[in-house]
Amino acid sequence: MDPNASGLLRRLTEAGQSHLIRFWDKLSPDERASLNQELQGIDFQEINVFFKRAMETSGSSSKNEKMDARMEPVAQDVLGSVTRDRGSVKRWEEKGLECISQGKVAVLLLAGGQGTRLGVSYPKGMYDVGLPSRKTLFQIQGERILKLQRLSEEKHKKKCNIPWYIMTSGRTMESTKDYFSRLNYFGLDKSSVIFFQQGMLPAMDYDGKIILESTCKVSMAPDGNGGLYRALGNQGILDDMQRRGVEYIHVYCVDNILVKVADPAFMGFCVEKGADCGAKVVEKSNPTEAVGVVCKADGHYQVVEYSEITLATAEKRSADGRLMFSAANVCNHFFNFAFLKDVVEKYEPKLQHHVAQKKIPFVDQQGQLVSPDKPNGIKMEKFVFDIFQFAKTFVVYEVLREDEFSPLKNADRQDGKDTPTTARHALMSLHHRWVLNAGGHFTDENGTRVPAIPRAGAADPVTDDGIRNLKDGTDLPIKCEISPLVSYGGEGLEPLVKGRDFHPTLIIDESGVHELVKNGV
Ligand code: UD1
Repeated sequence: MDPNASGLLRRLTEAGQSHLIRFWDKLSPDERASLNQELQGIDFQEINVFFKRAMETSGSSSKNEKMDARMEPVAQDVLGSVTRDRGSVKRWEEKGLECISQGKVAVLLLAGGQGTRLGVSYPKGMYDVGLPSRKTLFQIQGERILKLQRLSEEKHKKKCNIPWYIMTSGRTMESTKDYFSRLNYFGLDKSSVIFFQQGMLPAMDYDGKIILESTCKVSMAPDGNGGLYRALGNQGILDDMQRRGVEYIHVYCVDNILVKVADPAFMGFCVEKGADCGAKVVEKSNPTEAVGVVCKADGHYQVVEYSEITLATAEKRSADGRLMFSAANVCNHFFNFAFLKDVVEKYEPKLQHHVAQKKIPFVDQQGQLVSPDKPNGIKMEKFVFDIFQFAKTFVVYEVLREDEFSPLKNADRQDGKDTPTTARHALMSLHHRWVLNAGGHFTDENGTRVPAIPRAGAADPVTDDGIRNLKDGTDLPIKCEISPLVSYGGEGLEPLVKGRDFHPTLIIDESGVHELVKNGV
């Protein structure tokens, strides 16, 4: 395994990356083997081109100003809304369920991220936010799929399957698969749960040199959730979809505890509009919320990330006082199969990588690991929504944040946003509302009925973005959890709760309705 004889040294030298084997003489045979294997798998010329193109177009304030000037809000004619179009939602939902019953709908989970902000070493989908049931994000999603299959089967008297494609990365594949197998695929048919792996790219310094994270290992990171498209092609997933007769795909990200997986209303809306591609959005809560916004630029729809626009544009308001760029991307996308195939085969290679400046641990000349305290290099990523621009018919579907969006991004801390606490509270508050809507009530320890709309007290002030600033305690919201196997979206609860008074903690699962004694959870 001489790098000279194998041609590795020549390839590295030609690409200006020969520093990657500078510790070769000091490595053990095993270390040499592993480094050799890793380097043989990298196309250095391609990486150099990615780097050059990404750096040429990477974010700068002047680029952001240029983007501002080109942005237009979402046009009304492509917009569907669960509030403004309330009369149509039932029809869309029925359309979606019909497509599900015909086996035309698949879901695709983007779960290749590293969960750096949350700070866990295992896949984010395995996170337990502390619900009474201790269910993880993966389990909640799996059970929602199972419930939807059952609802569709009941309505259409036909067995159906919603294939669940799960994209992981090199770092998350084994633990994800292992977890699904231990939990028996949450009751789903194992053959309809399909794992595949996205690509990885090396981290680079600002001069385009690939970074070593140890003397015998390159610093690699997943190539962004837009790595999906390449992986769909080279892992045979498109072929699998075609074999199964999948026509519509719901792509979503792992961290939203309220995600309506394969949401029939969203799918039905997109199908009825004849869309190639669609995005679900919620109203952006405040100008600096860390979400991308769906907008039009140069006649094409796209998502502009919060880091890519100036504050002045983010703060712009329409005549009605709402934010002009208010369509917050919740990373829930619709694709029809033909468009997805075109994306994989024709459009993906045209996409450029986005640049994320990072503090990347590296080995110095002496082979010592250094953890920098300021950014020293870049990671390159493609984004899943980068292909919106190629859609001929693009639609946007607006839903309510409190019903559908509460992402888990950060670890718990006082007043933190998008944390396990906020996710847990959002789910329990939704389920509380489901019980009220189905005619149930809650009483406190004195037997007094709890008001239907919880008031903010001094202990839980509301922030300027309208988010109730809850203490991580037991006061609010009411502890209530309904298993997805009982209700997908609030349906079917009347026979269980109508006219009844409950003491929290209330748990409704397949075995019945349970009230747990205080502090019993
Ligand atoms: C993402 C959206 C942002 C949106 C926000 C809503 C992207 C690029 N940005 O931002 O517009 O407002 O969610 O919560 O989609 N992932 C992979 N592979 C990777 C990187 C990420 O599969 O290489 C997955 C993650 O596991 C996650 C999803 O993509 O499920 C989103 O990634 P994350 O890094 O959390 O995106 P945000 O910056 O929060």
